[in-house]
Amino acid sequence: MSVSCAVVPELPVLDHDTVLQAVPPATAIECVRQGLLRFHAGEWAMPAKVYLQSPPFGDFRAMPARGDGLALLKWITSFPGNPQRGLPTVNGVICLSDAETGQPVMLLDARSVTALRTGAVAAVAASALARSDARTVGIVGCGLHGAWTARCMVAAGYGLGVCHDPQADAAAALAGELDWRTGTPAEALACDVVCCVTPGNSVVVDIGSLHAGLHLNMLGADGPGKAEASIGAVASCVLFCDEWEQASHGGELTGAIEAGLVARSDVTELGAVLAGDAPGRPGAESVTLFDSTGLAIQDLAVAAAAFAAWEDNRVQAQTVRL
Ligand SMILES: NC(=O)c1ccc[n+]([C@@H]2O[C@H](COP(=O)([O-])OP(=O)(O)OC[C@H]3O[C@@H](n4cnc5c(N)ncnc54)[C@H](O)[C@@H]3O)[C@@H](O)[C@H]2O)c1
Repeated sequence: MSVSCAVVPELPVLDHDTVLQAVPPATAIECVRQGLLRFHAGEWAMPAKVYLQSPPFGDFRAMPARGDGLALLKWITSFPGNPQRGLPTVNGVICLSDAETGQPVMLLDARSVTALRTGAVAAVAASALARSDARTVGIVGCGLHGAWTARCMVAAGYGLGVCHDPQADAAAALAGELDWRTGTPAEALACDVVCCVTPGNSVVVDIGSLHAGLHLNMLGADGPGKAEASIGAVASCVLFCDEWEQASHGGELTGAIEAGLVARSDVTELGAVLAGDAPGRPGAESVTLFDSTGLAIQDLAVAAAAFAAWEDNRVQAQTVRL
């Protein structure tokens, strides 16, 4: 007996390099800004991400979002021991679907989308929260996401920058690429905007590191048990986050919240500031801190831009038939 089925169209697949070709940093920044606004307005939906532990190796994360006629699922890993095997720590696949029919419309490499949207949100947060005369950028942690954060900060008009990493070659490579310089932790932390993108297993920002007018983007602590700043440093800043539920359970703010030093009313979501529904930086001398935990709506914003680039024939895709 034969089972008839509707014709299944070919599905475009965007690899790592094609995603980066499709979505330059400046586009990613604007798309992520729009995504945060649409989510704040209740037009985009995002259930909480689901963690699936794979002990002792790491974890998988399933991250769904829906908006602008598309739905996305990112299936992404964090396997810290992978570099020893010659494999990336973070890897995975994104499925983009039509929100009206449920049909998959594209598969995308998740590493490139994640790197772009993570760098992009740092630039969006700095533009909204740093002093208007802020220019210099300190990058603490110059690995994959530190590098894309720096590239997005350049695309948003920031620089010169100081790159710091205990792996001197990582800092030198990034500084060389951007015509910035390498420096000590103190030199990086003395910049107008400081982006911390370390693995989050040791404190790189303490109270003594803070200077008047500083804006901090804390990007490395994106899961339970990670932190890049001391609890005292966090509690002494004016606080912002990407999304309260996620940030309060698995982000830079979590330690200060658990210690009873920070409450929901002390933290403003970035989308509310972008929409003009909440104040941003209170004054030129304030120290602001943005906690990025990484949202599926950021992935949706970048994946939708990559899909649009393919539809407009600006990039070519491989195809598969499921
Ligand atoms: N917020 C988000 O949306 C988001 C997205 C992706 C990744 N992340 C997180 O960002 C962190 C970095 O990820 P990655 O993929 O860039 O990792 P990576 O391994 O490529 O880079 C981390 C870099 O930090 C450096 N480093 C370690 N300790 C340091 C210290 N004390 N001071 C300065 N640099 C130090 C390492 O030498 C390395 O170069 C991870 O914790 C990851 O989970 C967050």
